[in-house]
Amino acid sequence: MTDILQFPPDFRWGTAVSAHQVEGGNTLNDWWLWEHLPGKIRHGHTSAVAADWWNRAEDDIALAAQLGHSALRISLEWSRIEPRPGEFDEAALARYRRMLTAIRQHGMEPLVCLFHFTLPQWVAARGGFETAYGVDRFARFVDRVAYEYRDLVQWWLTINEPLVYVALGWFLGLWPPGKKNLVAAMRVALNLVHAHADAYHIIHRHRPDAWVSAAIHLASYVPHNPASRWDQGVAQSRDWLLNQVWLRATLDGRLRPPLGRGQILGEAVDTHDYMGYQHYFTFPLAFSLRHAPTMFGREMTLAREGVPWFMGEARPEGLGGWATWLKQFGKPIIVTENGLLELTEQQRPAYLLRAVASLHRAIQAGADVRGYFHWTLVDNFEWAEGYETRFGLVEVNFETQQRTVRPSGYLFRDLARANGITRPMAEAVAPDLLPTYFDPRPAGQPVRS
Ligand code: BGC
Repeated sequence: MTDILQFPPDFRWGTAVSAHQVEGGNTLNDWWLWEHLPGKIRHGHTSAVAADWWNRAEDDIALAAQLGHSALRISLEWSRIEPRPGEFDEAALARYRRMLTAIRQHGMEPLVCLFHFTLPQWVAARGGFETAYGVDRFARFVDRVAYEYRDLVQWWLTINEPLVYVALGWFLGLWPPGKKNLVAAMRVALNLVHAHADAYHIIHRHRPDAWVSAAIHLASYVPHNPASRWDQGVAQSRDWLLNQVWLRATLDGRLRPPLGRGQILGEAVDTHDYMGYQHYFTFPLAFSLRHAPTMFGREMTLAREGVPWFMGEARPEGLGGWATWLKQFGKPIIVTENGLLELTEQQRPAYLLRAVASLHRAIQAGADVRGYFHWTLVDNFEWAEGYETRFGLVEVNFETQQRTVRPSGYLFRDLARANGITRPMAEAVAPDLLPTYFDPRPAGQPVRS
């Protein structure tokens, strides 16, 4: 009888952080300038010292190890490593080497992301990824770091959430460069295909056995009224545009509209060694003539306190659903982010368990999932939402930098150590999982605590 939903033997359990959100002191990137413009960040917060990772990374890395991690995702801050065009900062390179070494020394696999939303100011000033200049300079940066860390890093991510970056920066105008320009948005999306493909090949030149992907944001777009053809239509077109067009371009190389006219970009063909994906939200959509700019889709997300409207609804079972969908591409799969925004711990432990249970189900059904990275280890600077928005397994007091492990942090540790979900975990945290995932307990068997 099932007493544990066991994950495959080499399955990796980790959390993910990004440089600008935790390091502090990233004064040389475009976000730093943006944060200091009035009205851009909730409550006027700035990244400031953030979670002070530049000084304290090793402490949090040790904490991650105590919390059962067998992997940890970080990102490299381009503006620290190349503060001026062509000038590489040896001290910054050495700092990341120390972090990566610490991760390895604790027996964790590092997963390193090359672009997590921030550009050096000198790149942003020349148009960033709107221009070929940005793509070329990115390739030069990647060449340097892929060479530099070839002994320490095998698992790489090129670009974090390409279409989230495009949507927030060039469509909604909520992130730098704060534009609302569809033509430029599509140019950036296409340039990011080039940037990803270049990075893929460069990394493999320095380390032939590297494992490279991009962190693809897969949100679930569902019809508000499942019986309405119109609602189905808007959900499908949003899914196609935001989930599929970019991803497919980096699998078969074909630039489908609106990225291109169907031509093949040879360098982008088959540029994933595994499928990296992240899942947070479900967006119920209704057809509305008044929403022409958003392809006639009106978001019908139920409002939740403290959650900005553009973040959608949190439905944990979507995590496994997307792993099952990705199976069609025939590659190993890694969840590179998944988590819940919450100030209290009312929902997070159950969310975590339900999400991971759905992933287990997908694995049982044949999805080759190799790892799960929870977003995030420690509370951080949550972009335009500032510090009030908390995703951490570990709470940070930003006045004192004190860390307090949340109940979900201990649950994550137990999951990782057991390499699965045990019956007592489900009984304690999400009993609704029992009838679906665990066999009924034979009559008379005592209930374990
Ligand atoms: C991003 C993170 C962000 C998280 C929570 C992801 O889309 O990669 O940088 O903090 O979601 O909003």
